[in-house]
Amino acid sequence: MTRTIINLYKDWKYCSHFNEGTSLNEWDAAEYESVSLPHTNIMLPYNYFNETLYQFISCYRKEFTIQPAYKGKRVFVDFEGVASYADVYVNGHNVGDHKGGYTPFSFEITDCVDYTASNELTVVVDSRERDDIPPFGYEIDYLTYGGIYREAALRIVDPIFIENVFVRAADVLDENRKLDISLFMNNGTAAAEDMLVNVRLKGPEGYLLERRVNVKADQGNSRADFSISDLGHIQLWDLEHPHLYEIEFECSAPGVASDIYTTRIGFRDVAMREDGFYLNGRNLKLRGLNRHQSFPYVGYAMPERVQKKDAELLKYQLKLNVVRTSHYPQSRHFLDRCDEIGLLVFEEIPGWQHIGDEKWKEAACTHVREMIERDWNRPSVFIWGIRINESGDDHDFYSETNRIAHELDPSRQTTGVRCITSSELLEDVYSMNDFIHTGEEIALRDQKEVTGLDRYVPYLVTEFNGHMYPTKRFDQEERLVEHAMRHLWVHHAAGKDPHISGAIGWCAFDYNTHFGFGSGDRICYHGVMDMFRIPKFAAAFYRSQDDPRKEAVLEPMTLWTRGERSGGGIRPLVIFTNCDEVLLYIGGTYKGTFKPEREQYPGVDYPPVVISRIEGEWGDHWHDAEFAGYVSGKEIIRRKFSRDPVPTKLRAEADDLELDSDRPDATRIVYTLVDQVDNVLPFIPEYIDFTISGPGEIIGPHRTALIGGCIAVWIRAQGKGLITVSAQCSQFRAKDVIISVR
Ligand code: GAL
Repeated sequence: MTRTIINLYKDWKYCSHFNEGTSLNEWDAAEYESVSLPHTNIMLPYNYFNETLYQFISCYRKEFTIQPAYKGKRVFVDFEGVASYADVYVNGHNVGDHKGGYTPFSFEITDCVDYTASNELTVVVDSRERDDIPPFGYEIDYLTYGGIYREAALRIVDPIFIENVFVRAADVLDENRKLDISLFMNNGTAAAEDMLVNVRLKGPEGYLLERRVNVKADQGNSRADFSISDLGHIQLWDLEHPHLYEIEFECSAPGVASDIYTTRIGFRDVAMREDGFYLNGRNLKLRGLNRHQSFPYVGYAMPERVQKKDAELLKYQLKLNVVRTSHYPQSRHFLDRCDEIGLLVFEEIPGWQHIGDEKWKEAACTHVREMIERDWNRPSVFIWGIRINESGDDHDFYSETNRIAHELDPSRQTTGVRCITSSELLEDVYSMNDFIHTGEEIALRDQKEVTGLDRYVPYLVTEFNGHMYPTKRFDQEERLVEHAMRHLWVHHAAGKDPHISGAIGWCAFDYNTHFGFGSGDRICYHGVMDMFRIPKFAAAFYRSQDDPRKEAVLEPMTLWTRGERSGGGIRPLVIFTNCDEVLLYIGGTYKGTFKPEREQYPGVDYPPVVISRIEGEWGDHWHDAEFAGYVSGKEIIRRKFSRDPVPTKLRAEADDLELDSDRPDATRIVYTLVDQVDNVLPFIPEYIDFTISGPGEIIGPHRTALIGGCIAVWIRAQGKGLITVSAQCSQFRAKDVIISVR
């Protein structure tokens, strides 16, 4: 038999007021509610809430049966993420515990399982900020939420099975491309066993090759290393064409082993050098943002589709080539999508400024292992962040995290994110959160000034902006413009400096945070998009940095009003665009043709157009405006503004119209109150009411305010059929959104 996976998505019982010391065997079903995974231990308000709301101990129970036919096999329970501490029992026997909310863990439960009756899995979840678990011990600028917030499953395997594989593409730029493979076997029998392993490489068109290897599985855990060569015909993974291959390992030994382990790989060569970042031998300037994995109301508990959508937003809407998973390993679904669409990932261990005691450090070292062993086959992940974000130097601790990373994965470079200068460089790459830019001339420091070294080293800027200029999506126009310009200015500076591999801004999305940070309402408004992933002006800078043949971008940074800015008017008018030129018409009259500021911003691929003077009447008359974007002499995009915007329509845009019923699934609908030419009305004080019918549920409140003229809502599928979502504000009803759940 090959492995059997039984997903544990549904029919959990959950109790939010579990007292430490309570007997696990006697429990009152009336105190438990039915829930499914991913689950948040509590639904939270949008803002202005106390972060201790989710910091409590809760208990999850799940009944399961294992067919008698599986007797003699081995049974494991696998968790992908439980925040932040889990103590796991099967039929009252403790099978293990796990510290830390961001990495997966498994326990063997073979000996506790009853094959003839129903079994009970109990998970006591501690979501308090315990000093013995990273990132805790200090106030951090994000929330860690609580619950079994990622998937869980049962895994049934033969006595000998494949625990993990590590596949490294080597000599990728040569004709003699090869794969170096480490196979990790787990042998639960009383003797070593000779195994036959069939390795099959599969591309989009089917199997490409098959190799047989003989491997000895020692008792307990063992590792076998071998290579597969002559892979010259393999296509490379890059950002434009992220070719992925599936590699399958089928192992067998009569009576004791029959297992198939499959993983996805990509062939690419990455290196950070003194003179920048190289992908497949080509120098590439990294342009990215940091991502927190949190969402309104449910914290971290969002399913696969929503995780994947974030990757798509970063790649396709913000045109990034890199994301940093600040400040912890994120959902495998998010990373799967990064592999699939060609988005590079900087992944790091959980932590924020604080280093705890020896036990704490031990947990951090375990996190290094768990992160690397989960994600080492991903082509998107190009570097391991093995230092606690922005912590001070700690020679012994960081020598150890670095040693573990290099020993586990000799193929990737390590780094550690600092905010201090002249820090001891133990890793391969010096990463710096460089918040020097205050809106004045200086955008980034010279790397030698930061490192204190007399030579250049591989160097990356991992954060900038953030708290230096918090900006709400509904802030005043000048602030929104300045926020966007600061992102432009820093990327321009990184672009010009060959010793800076690139810059990863703070951050992609606004996020809920602790009392000591943010705007007093427990939100850090540091995103280029808000918590609902709705763009601010700064998002337009990122969006404009890609080829207009893929998507033409023309975003004038204005509401086109006479009196929104201090002193009135709209100048200087910044237009983020990838067009060659922009033609402006006011009141139907041509006012001029404007070109991108290439001399001013040579560090970015697509500098903005900046209009500082416009001929014609300004003060007295105010007219409609139209902007036309041209590429190679042809108009490819047009944007309109009304002189007199009035509410016209409540627009509804769903990310997906089809969901799946066989796994946890959800999608987002964005509602925008727009004027006659489809522009948002950010200052409208309107509420919105949602109603839903069919097999679905609204995540969050059914009545809320529009925030800055828009709001989004996530809809969770709860069975098969058609979901209808209606939305109504005082003046308009949006077109119903009908989602079919297959
Ligand atoms: C950094 C920190 C981030 C975030 C940011 C705000 O110091 O690493 O997590 O707090 O500041 O600008």
